[in-house]
Amino acid sequence: MPEQTDDRISIIMGDITIQHVDAIANAANPTLLGGGGVDGAIHRAAGPGLLEECRTLGGCRTGEAKITKGYNLPARFVIHTVGPVWRKGGKDEDVLLAACYRNSLTLAELSGVKTIAFPAISTGAYGFPYERAANIAVWTVREFISTHPSMERVVFVCHGEKAYRIYCETFEKDWADHPETLLAEAIAAHLLMIETSHNIRIRNREEIVRRIAPAVKNSIQALSFGISLNTWVAVSRMTGDMTVPDKVLLQIVEQMNKT
Ligand code: APR
Repeated sequence: MPEQTDDRISIIMGDITIQHVDAIANAANPTLLGGGGVDGAIHRAAGPGLLEECRTLGGCRTGEAKITKGYNLPARFVIHTVGPVWRKGGKDEDVLLAACYRNSLTLAELSGVKTIAFPAISTGAYGFPYERAANIAVWTVREFISTHPSMERVVFVCHGEKAYRIYCETFEKDWADHPETLLAEAIAAHLLMIETSHNIRIRNREEIVRRIAPAVKNSIQALSFGISLNTWVAVSRMTGDMTVPDKVLLQIVEQMNKT
């Protein structure tokens, strides 16, 4: 099957367990102790050593990622990420799915991974609508590699003809059709990362996304916003449920517009 590619993203149809890349991503569950679907296929192909290492990881939260060796797989590493279960879109599923790709890529880069293959996370047992998931996957990866040159190649491994066609159609859509959605998702994902890393909940998260996204011109500004807000949260030692004050948002936007 011909690969649909640009210089750093490939879309292929096949089995992720036989891909010769530095790392393959696994659509795991929070226990990280294996399951069906692609999780089961990866554990079967990797052998018992993978489960033994997974047992030492203490599980994984939805949207986050953990890394193990690849054992009998051609890939040196497996990056286990837990996708959201689809609940009709009302429980931050889009943001959590984007976080799966972004956190997996961040962890991969920190581990020296240059090439990584992804299955269609959450689109099987977790019931995420395939087109919607493909959209999030392609745009999140595109946004990540646009600011991370060390990631040389990302391969989307589609399991079947229909899946492959959907990814190719998504891939062809022009980025220009999506800036506001993509940047809103980037802002939302930065907020989720801040909440996760500081163990807080930002009460006015949706309002912040609605207000800030239109002011963001590109993913660099979205990143600048995320870094500034993360710094403010760290310095102000926020805990539990908190609200980001308007004046702080205005200061951050002013700062962001200087980048
Ligand atoms: N290679 C590539 N893709 C595959 C493979 C494979 N060998 N096997 C399955 N897939 C595809 C499926 O067709 C689907 O599109 O992976 C996608 C994800 O489906 P699931 O594996 O069901 O993963 P997910 O929907 O994220 O559900 C995760 O299922 O297996 C359990 O332990 C796992 O509880 C977790 C849940």
